[in-house]
Amino acid sequence: MVPLGPPGTMRGMSDQENPTDVPADGPDLAGRADLMEKVVGLCKRRGLIFQSADIYGGFRSTYDYGPLGVNLLRNVKNAWWEAMVQRRDDVVGLDAAILSPPAVWAASGHLANFSDPLVDCRSCHQRWREDKIDGVCPSCGSTEFTEARAFNLMFKTHAGPVEDEGAVAYLRPETAQGMFTNFANVLQTTRKKPPFGIAQVGKSFRNEITPQNFVFRTREFEQMEMEFFVPPDDAQTWFEYWLAERHRWYLDLGIPEDQIRLRHHEASELAHYSAGTADVEFLFPWGWDELEGIANRGSFDLHAHAEASGERLEYFDQAAGERYTPHVIEPAAGATRTMMAFLLSAYHEDEVGGEARTVLRLHPKLAPYQVGVLPLSKKETLEPLARQVLASLQPHFMCDYDTTQSIGKRYRRQDEVGTPWCVTIDFDSLEDGAVTVRDRDTTEQSRIPIDDLVADLRRRMDAV
Ligand code: GAP
Repeated sequence: MVPLGPPGTMRGMSDQENPTDVPADGPDLAGRADLMEKVVGLCKRRGLIFQSADIYGGFRSTYDYGPLGVNLLRNVKNAWWEAMVQRRDDVVGLDAAILSPPAVWAASGHLANFSDPLVDCRSCHQRWREDKIDGVCPSCGSTEFTEARAFNLMFKTHAGPVEDEGAVAYLRPETAQGMFTNFANVLQTTRKKPPFGIAQVGKSFRNEITPQNFVFRTREFEQMEMEFFVPPDDAQTWFEYWLAERHRWYLDLGIPEDQIRLRHHEASELAHYSAGTADVEFLFPWGWDELEGIANRGSFDLHAHAEASGERLEYFDQAAGERYTPHVIEPAAGATRTMMAFLLSAYHEDEVGGEARTVLRLHPKLAPYQVGVLPLSKKETLEPLARQVLASLQPHFMCDYDTTQSIGKRYRRQDEVGTPWCVTIDFDSLEDGAVTVRDRDTTEQSRIPIDDLVADLRRRMDAV
């Protein structure tokens, strides 16, 4: 039997009514209290994010990205790369090494300055970041602490078999320095001239004293950073340009305006290199917090590396007959942290046809799967056509193929992980060569000829 929907509905569909939205979140913090718990639960249940070394009880706030999480994270990074590199002619890419010698970090200031104030609770002996606890031990409530001491956040290791001082190396705590140490290489090999940027996406490591809030602050994470080299007099203009561009990127990918804002740093908050910084902040369940920092770094980094290495890190402007050290505007985002913000913002609970559902309203570009291919019945007669449809979609979209349980349950499963469109192949498809496309957000269904399916889905994707 083909499970038909109510009279007047499309074939095999079980959720005709438009969803009644009961948002789990909102612009105000009220009502978001359990959002974090729900999203963390969903991440584990549906294979987005697992605790690392789970079978050994987990490992110190490190996380593994499962089959769906790796798709989502990759899509976040791809969306950033598309906006920051692919669609521009003034930014080029780079993939620098993670291991680097102490000289880099001495010049950058990280060996001297990249530390947090560490205190021990005198009562329960737990260690905390002094600036994050307001003078009260979060574990036992004591207000007695040791003197704060500077704790350097870089992971130190040894390159090669001898563990002596000469072999010390560091795991990079930011991707940015790779762009500065390669400035001259890129300038010579690409014939770019300021204003131009170097972009990089990759892992960074910080020995955080208090990793917390799931993947918000972890010891191993991914960054998406771009160093934009400009003539010194143009730095402020470009700083403002990048603030606006980066703010818009989040809005374009579906974060509502009331959940994202720009906040300019007070002078006392500025990092050692910064002549001005603003953060892109997201309204997390615990309040506004940083997603991305956009800094005017002046000429600090190129000067520091030029002085330490003895190399000239300047640009010679032939037209003006002038040599100068470019200033740098740096939009620096966290890929893993941004993925979490997209998840929190997309999480909704609503009702479809009187039934509760969880739906991730992710932008189709970000969703782990763009299309769920669902043969209505497991019967062998539908399988060849369903597999043919799947094969025709796979070169264009990330697809899931699901044959288990009722069609209604399969829709719920796809909604829960944010799949924007489900394509159902039913017995009529064998006759009319058409399939039903069902939209995640409206639950509307349309009958589409298989020959037009790729173009139809592409149109829907472009319309978002
Ligand atoms: N190059 C400048 C720089 O690294 P940052 O503000 O320290 O600046 C940039 O880092 C972004 O990297 C942050 O806005 C955040 O999104 C992400 N990030 C930093 N530390 C992180 C951590 N421990 N876990 C996850 N993401 C982190």
